[in-house]
Amino acid sequence: MNNASEFEKAVAIVKEKAIEGQKTVNGQNNVEGPKAVPGQKAVSDQKVVHDQPVFDHQDIAFFKKTLDILKRDYGNVLGQNLKIDMQRGKPCVEQLELANEMLDWNSAPFKCEDGTESRNYGGDLCGIPECRKLFADLAGVKRDNVLISGNSSLSVMYDFIVKAMLLGVYGAEKPWLKYPGKLKFLCPSPGYDRHFKVTEVLGFDLVTVRMNPDGPDMDEVERFVNCDDSVVGIWNVPKYSNPEGITYSDNVVKRFAALKPKADGFRIFWDNSYFCHDLYEEGDVLLNLLEECKKNGNENMAYIFLSTSKITFAGSGVSVAIASESNIKHIKSQIATQTIGPDKINQLRHARYIKNAETLKKIMMSHAAIIRPKFECARAVLEEEFSENGLCQWNNPRGGYFISLNAPDGCATRAVSLAAQAGVLFTGAGSTFPYKKDPNDRNIRIAPTVPSVAEISEAIKTLSLCIKIAYLEKQSGSLVI
Ligand SMILES: Cc1ncc(COP(=O)(O)O)c(C=O)c1O
Repeated sequence: MNNASEFEKAVAIVKEKAIEGQKTVNGQNNVEGPKAVPGQKAVSDQKVVHDQPVFDHQDIAFFKKTLDILKRDYGNVLGQNLKIDMQRGKPCVEQLELANEMLDWNSAPFKCEDGTESRNYGGDLCGIPECRKLFADLAGVKRDNVLISGNSSLSVMYDFIVKAMLLGVYGAEKPWLKYPGKLKFLCPSPGYDRHFKVTEVLGFDLVTVRMNPDGPDMDEVERFVNCDDSVVGIWNVPKYSNPEGITYSDNVVKRFAALKPKADGFRIFWDNSYFCHDLYEEGDVLLNLLEECKKNGNENMAYIFLSTSKITFAGSGVSVAIASESNIKHIKSQIATQTIGPDKINQLRHARYIKNAETLKKIMMSHAAIIRPKFECARAVLEEEFSENGLCQWNNPRGGYFISLNAPDGCATRAVSLAAQAGVLFTGAGSTFPYKKDPNDRNIRIAPTVPSVAEISEAIKTLSLCIKIAYLEKQSGSLVI
């Protein structure tokens, strides 16, 4: 892009004026300029100073001239008729192909380990024994802690919340809906938009909790959970979080396990969807929440969820709920009126395909070989575009499905919209926060798994150009393109 040096000059002017402005206000220079730190763990931990620099006519004229150059480049991008979708964390076709052998098992024996005929009604409502055992071993829990369900773990989470609202949870006096006043659900943010939406449509007040580099701000979590009896749940993606790729530290997990909720029916929703989704041979290690809860006499407080959507087929996987034996028995009794039985054929396929931890590791490394170059390409372009000027911050995930990018404050909505007009789609700005409202309008979620490496390079260059345009429009007070 031929705009590079002019743009760098424009950013330098903004920074200089910001420092001058700060000097005028405080009588000294105490400004820490925004820096890009490739490889950092958490975007939300970046300290970015939000100054309102004062520009003179010459500055504004230079911004406008630079903006014209950027807009010319943007016009060229429009002419390319790009069509690149980076909105959702989906496996690409090559990843789906990896599990095709599961579909070739026409002659498979249909009997489960315990003699249950998989094609018929019947069998344990919690799932077939070999599938329960597989996921119990993978999660480091007992078979009786495991309930296997249909293809969507999100719908299981939704279902558990509705059950808690209407029927109550194990050991609590009354269903959530019988509690006085409006119920609250804590939402560590940036977080997973579909989690937030579930609790929004079910009528909860969504409370944003800040994400630190090692997980949610536990001082805030403890303050809410231990002191407010209207707080009945909290969302978590504890490993390779969506979107920041953070894995919670041991200390954070231990503090979760030691919570003393004011509401007796409080539950931690621990969506460990990315439990095995390492991008590199050596993955992050997450402490076993159920085990830690047990140590604190809190074993009924945790609902843990796993999903095979990004291990086998996103549309035809199995989902897994893990909880104390008492919780599982209680939920099983509720499920008994809901279904005659789960899809046992699919459970059988999954147990036979995934087999054990060793085979799973091989499967996940095959996925990583396909998607790791895509993550690395996206990060390389971001570094090229922003490491000098320090305009954006992004994470460097070691697993999961997302890269989280922080644009300059107030620029995400405009940049995502400009990119969409150019045919490059990102998740809507704001989506990673409750009610889709990013207080800083800066977070952009990048899902790099579906497009090819060449498309990702094009898409991230386009996004970078759109961020630069949004930034200069803001500085020059011009919003017209
Ligand atoms: C954190 C998280 N949980 C759950 C899901 C959806 O899982 P499932 O397909 O099992 O409903 C996703 C999908 O992107 C996700 O990112």
